[in-house]
Amino acid sequence: MIEKIEPQTLPSAPLHGRRVERRSNPCVAWLIGDPVSHSLSPLLHNAAFKKVGLPHVYVPLRLPHRLLRPFFGLAPHARTLGMNVTVPHKEAVLRFIDHLSPEAKVCGAVNCIRVRGRRLEGFNTDGSGFLAAIKKEFGFDARGKRVVILGAGGAAKGVAHALAPCGLRSIIILNRTVSRARSLAVNVRTVTRKTIVESAALDRTSMEHAAEGADLIVQTTSVGLDGRSAIRFPFQDSPRQARVADIVYRPLETPFLKAAKKAGRRTLGGWAMFLYQAAESFQIWTGQPAPIPLMRRLLLSSLRPD
Ligand code: ATR
Repeated sequence: MIEKIEPQTLPSAPLHGRRVERRSNPCVAWLIGDPVSHSLSPLLHNAAFKKVGLPHVYVPLRLPHRLLRPFFGLAPHARTLGMNVTVPHKEAVLRFIDHLSPEAKVCGAVNCIRVRGRRLEGFNTDGSGFLAAIKKEFGFDARGKRVVILGAGGAAKGVAHALAPCGLRSIIILNRTVSRARSLAVNVRTVTRKTIVESAALDRTSMEHAAEGADLIVQTTSVGLDGRSAIRFPFQDSPRQARVADIVYRPLETPFLKAAKKAGRRTLGGWAMFLYQAAESFQIWTGQPAPIPLMRRLLLSSLRPD
């Protein structure tokens, strides 16, 4: 969970000698990354600002690494509400942040920044977005459940750390590079006492073993980003009621999810995590709940093939 957000007026910042009230005056929320042109965040956030009657705009900005410092030198002084940070800058921005949320600290990565006066506060809403997604879209209550995570990269870290304090029975982390799976498992064990945390290679035997008791299988690797490839997981060995989530959101139904569905398992696409992490950013910046039904509708209709 992210830190409690007070529904208060954001503090003002000086702009050309004047004070700027960041809530009622038009401000900018930036998306910084490289590339950014493919992102659906501007569509969702601009519609959301309009819907709740806020005069702000969300602007994608392709920012090469060398321009990070000048950007952070300027942005907090302009009418900036905050930023979303995407690949490849989620770790590089840490050095500009004054205060990190516990999730951002544990993940060592930031995807949302709030500007408060001259202070920059960094959050990581990927993990909490994933938790909200499985709760709201799957009705999944994590307590006492057995979770299998495929992958041990940045996304897996966010998901594992969000799930770890939820009273799971076990987490099994499978990764192509076993040492990464092992070190993530060691890391996750530090935040949970009761949950059994295991790690292994992403091979046939480990997948079959992990599938057997799984209540939730989460695909966090970059396999599938091309829309064609998929990890060949033995879904038929998992319990019938096992649920399967992919964090890849393009295409709407990845080959991994197609295979799970074919095996009769309930599935959830990466769109849901994307939606709820966006909703959390919106709330962090504005202090108001995001208009989720509108954002959900827009997102799904943009991702649906014609
Ligand atoms: P992200 O921040 O998106 O998670 P990352 O940190 O580079 O990106 O992690 C990518 C994940 O996808 C890793 O778990 C990676 O496995 P390795 O740690 O072995 O590199 C996994 N991955 C990428 N390509 C893969 C492939 N062809 N087969 C299996 N796993 C793969």
